[in-house]
Amino acid sequence: MTLALVTGAAGFIGSVLVERLLADTDWRVLGIDSLTDYYDPQTKRANVAGLDPSRFELLEADLTTADLTELVHRADVVFHLAGQPGVRGSWGPQFRTYLDHNVLATQRLLEASVHAPHLRAFVFSSSSSVYGDARTYPTQETDLPAPKSPYGVTKLAAEHLCGLYAANFGLPTRALRFFTVYGPRQRPDMAFDRFIRAALSGEPVQVYGDGRQIREFTYVGDIVSAVMAAAREDVPAGSVINLSGGSSVSVLEVLAELERILDRPIAVNHLPTALGDVFRTGGSTERARALLGWSPTVDLAEGLARQARWVDARLALQP
Ligand code: NAD
Ligand code: UGA
Repeated sequence: MTLALVTGAAGFIGSVLVERLLADTDWRVLGIDSLTDYYDPQTKRANVAGLDPSRFELLEADLTTADLTELVHRADVVFHLAGQPGVRGSWGPQFRTYLDHNVLATQRLLEASVHAPHLRAFVFSSSSSVYGDARTYPTQETDLPAPKSPYGVTKLAAEHLCGLYAANFGLPTRALRFFTVYGPRQRPDMAFDRFIRAALSGEPVQVYGDGRQIREFTYVGDIVSAVMAAAREDVPAGSVINLSGGSSVSVLEVLAELERILDRPIAVNHLPTALGDVFRTGGSTERARALLGWSPTVDLAEGLARQARWVDARLALQP
């Protein structure tokens, strides 16, 4: 059996990855998550409840302080998804948290991984936010990154650390640039979860700016397929790869699609444009296709409908 060390295992993307790994009988999973209070830790516990204890264990530990050498020593693959996400909250005193959970945590995990005897891949969850307001679309991995938020700066720093450990120690790192991920279990601070909850409760949605900003939203199942391919395929150490969802849509277009799915009008409150928000993301997937054999399969209409059904079911369970 192959042992996966999954950091951030109880989070949105991490927990979907753990489920998919366990669906394949070849894998055992050691999850690490400190259950930060960025959103309700109970939600995170629920994400990993009921998994087969003979093949999955969750260690509640913080990557910034835990002794990682022994843990990584046993791993065949490290999937590093732990981090402090969220673009708009990374200004001011919060930056310390971003530095610790995105930069220091990654450096400590890389350092421990250098000595791991069986490690065949170290997969890092980077972000489209490293690009900032890109000069060209679809943006290519070779385009100069210029983050527009402190969050993006920390993800780029962590990506560079992955590159350094590949170049200096031959560590088989791959940094995957996720483009705004959505689907069941999406974090409660993200747009789709907030929009669906508000619409189902008959409340107006809050839109930053005029809503014409564009994202290449990517379905979580597609992201996880690529993350697993990055562990399986023969990818050059230090690679950086876009994972971009296939269709660029504006926030207003998302809301129109959601009105169609939920079959009801959605009222919109406009707020000032959020500091750090880029106007547009959209990445070339040529490299993902060449190195991972990956391209996205779930379109926005299907993925948004799946997320809406999931939020609806979750709200129905609440007292
Ligand atoms: P999430 O907050 O749901 O999951 C991250 C998990 O990491 C959380 O459960 C948290 O408790 C844990 N964690 C944070 N710091 C830790 C530490 N020091 N030690 C141990 N555990 C720690 O977020 P997500 O949306 O699932 O994102 C996962 C990763 O993907 C993050 O690194 C994020 O930056 C990156 N990413 C996410 C998106 C997106 O659209 N969701 C896009 C690009 C990149
Ligand atoms: C997301 C994640 O939150 C980041 O962690 C990640 O790194 C980033 O994707 C990425 O792709 O790199 P973001 O694109 O801001 O960041 O994702 P959403 O929170 O889903 O926001 C999408 C758009 O909707 C943004 O323009 C935002 O301003 C807007 N929005 C969000 C609203 O108008 N209203 C809201 O209530 C929330």
